[in-house]
Amino acid sequence: MTILHLDSSITGDKSVSRVLTRRIVDQLAAVQPGTEVVQRDLVADPLDHLTLGSFADTSVLDEFLAADTVVIGAPMYNFTLPSQLKAWLDRILVAGKTFRYGEDGTPEGLVGGKRVIVALSRGGFYRGDSPAAGLEHLETYLIGVFGFIGITPEFVAADGINLGAEQRARSVETALGEVEQLAA
Ligand SMILES: Cc1cc2nc3c(=O)[nH]c(=O)nc-3n(C[C@H](O)[C@H](O)[C@H](O)COP(=O)(O)O)c2cc1C
Repeated sequence: MTILHLDSSITGDKSVSRVLTRRIVDQLAAVQPGTEVVQRDLVADPLDHLTLGSFADTSVLDEFLAADTVVIGAPMYNFTLPSQLKAWLDRILVAGKTFRYGEDGTPEGLVGGKRVIVALSRGGFYRGDSPAAGLEHLETYLIGVFGFIGITPEFVAADGINLGAEQRARSVETALGEVEQLAA
């Protein structure tokens, strides 16, 4: 099995999403001996903004296509994903490779066989009937984008990270508990 491990948090060793992705990858690798892990740090080694010329280089797409499982750290910045992660998504949404349109214009995802696990980390709460739910453009966006290419992503979420040390500790602990279930 090949795991592609992506991080996009700018907060280095204070990052919650990086703790979660590391734990997810370690857990998956532990239950599947011989797993190969390919790591891409989108902050240490950022991709350029998309241009038409970017499509000539398919290395990022090829790396994604070669992975059986993709583990993505997705912190919420300004109610959505980091632009570093958006630049990566811009390389993998490629007509004819990861999606296509049928004759009647219906989109069809082409990479259904992959497992995508996203570690979300958000300062506040956005799920369910939260008053801030309308500002959630991270989880909803990733569901839409991966759905478009044929993948139903799984999520582990650490929410309320900026609402005090106690809440932060509780949220991280809950998320780490969710990680254990993922690998089971
Ligand atoms: C630049 C920046 C913007 C942020 N914007 C939001 C936001 O819009 N909504 C929110 O709930 N939290 C926001 N936060 C808080 C982060 O989502 C939270 O700290 C989370 O843990 C970030 O993930 P990380 O710890 O992996 O970096 C922001 C944090 C930073 C650094």
